[in-house]
Amino acid sequence: MAERTWWKRGIVYQIYPRSFQDTNGDGVGDLEGIRRRLDHLAWLGVDALWISPIYPSPMADGGYDVADYRDIDPLFGSLADFDRLVGEAHERGLKLILDFVPNHSSSQHAWFRESRSSRTNPKRDWYIWRDPAPGGGPPNNWISNFGGSAWTFDEATGQYYYHAFLKEQPDLNWRNPELREAMFDTLRFWLERGVDGFRVDVIWHLMKDPEMRDNPPNPGYTPGQPAINRLLQIHSADHPDIYGVIAGMRKVLDGYPDRVLIGEIYLPIERLVTYYGPDLTGAHLPFNFQLIHTTWRARDIEALVREYEGKLPEGGWPNWVLSNHDQPRIAARVGQAQARVAAMLLLTLRGTPTLYYGDELGMPAVHIPRDRVQDPWEKNEPGIGIGRDPSRTPMPWDRSPNAGFSSVEPWLPLNQDWHSRNVAAMRDEPASILTLTRNLIALRRERKSLMVGRYAPVLVTDEVFVYLREAGDERVMAALNLTGDPQTVHLPDHLQGGHVLVSTLAQVPANPVGGALTLRGHEGLLIELTRQAA
Ligand code: GLC
Repeated sequence: MAERTWWKRGIVYQIYPRSFQDTNGDGVGDLEGIRRRLDHLAWLGVDALWISPIYPSPMADGGYDVADYRDIDPLFGSLADFDRLVGEAHERGLKLILDFVPNHSSSQHAWFRESRSSRTNPKRDWYIWRDPAPGGGPPNNWISNFGGSAWTFDEATGQYYYHAFLKEQPDLNWRNPELREAMFDTLRFWLERGVDGFRVDVIWHLMKDPEMRDNPPNPGYTPGQPAINRLLQIHSADHPDIYGVIAGMRKVLDGYPDRVLIGEIYLPIERLVTYYGPDLTGAHLPFNFQLIHTTWRARDIEALVREYEGKLPEGGWPNWVLSNHDQPRIAARVGQAQARVAAMLLLTLRGTPTLYYGDELGMPAVHIPRDRVQDPWEKNEPGIGIGRDPSRTPMPWDRSPNAGFSSVEPWLPLNQDWHSRNVAAMRDEPASILTLTRNLIALRRERKSLMVGRYAPVLVTDEVFVYLREAGDERVMAALNLTGDPQTVHLPDHLQGGHVLVSTLAQVPANPVGGALTLRGHEGLLIELTRQAA
């Protein structure tokens, strides 16, 4: 029965709430907007929505600087709006996952105000305070992920506080038992309101080296890379004590039926898989970002699927991600034609896919004029291409003013081609990537092999990657051409004979599949193989 758990079977859809749908005319999306667009998600066929942070926040980092863990920012609505959204999502059979941001709060959080008020304040130890280095200056060499020192000096109390991100995002001290309990209570607060799980922000950052030793230099650093790359982050994150913390979160979630814990983790595969935890007491789904970082070549993709499948712990359930609010969109990385192949890959690999809003439209990178930059990281380290705004632009719904997103100019510019690249225009267009995505989702839902079946590689060349998904006597084969040129591959005897379920290109090839399988440029085929006699 375990394989029927919704978060194994289902598809997660990430919403960046500022950009989904505005209903109160301020140019920024809101919870009521998400509620009104639930039909799009139900129509698309996804199972769960994950919403990036909606808590009260000064918005120094788009809401990843939380000033109150148990309320909703007025920008997005109210707790009543939230309850209504949860209720209506559930009515449609959709699960709702919140973003939980436990590594740091906002510097405006009441806890931090207390903590910084004096060295003897009971909440002093809820954050990470250290004396200056013996010769003066920051306690160690750690760098902020957004550039500059990770330490800020507090005049009033004569100590530095640590922040892995902005100085407006002081790190919480997860070694303090009271802080832990307060955070676990926060999880319960939302679970009681019906939330189906959490995506935990920078979960691998929570526990740091207790001695706070310097990080060593990164020999691979080259100028032009973000400052954080100058050091290897071996002491500031990914400390073994993390597993106890995550097990604590799991214990809270396990007190409620069928909830999911997803962890944001940017680490190499062998470290990533440790976040399933000893005896699977860790994250249900440590986010797998391998497809974001790989070169888009058949052999590289096959190799990383093989490595990931091979290193998963016994019983650990895989997952795949193509884009998110921190990364360039898939269509921006591989182009429109390959974005369709990528959609087929994402939706046919073994494991839970997370689909980023707008990728179902093949949203491109949107050019952001300098005076409209919002991302604090881009502001800190301008011009090196790390800006995240191009992937956070408003969802284009139709051809009405402001693409149906808002009645006013949106907080970030729309994609230039929004007149044609919008939901209404692409919905009924048989050749659109939206139709393709919806068809792939429907096929995945209908077939056990695709949802929960075994993965088996079939063949890989420099250009083509072919694999199989199997459950019982049901076998579906994905054949992906990662290039723009036609390619022919020769299938082993036992995989011949079947019919094409869907092609990433507009027209499904009429010819039956024989020993030699020819794929057109940028074509991915999903082929149902003839059932084997029992
Ligand atoms: C995560 C979020 C990112 C945020 C950072 C700090 O990586 O996804 O958007 O800036 O954490 O909270």
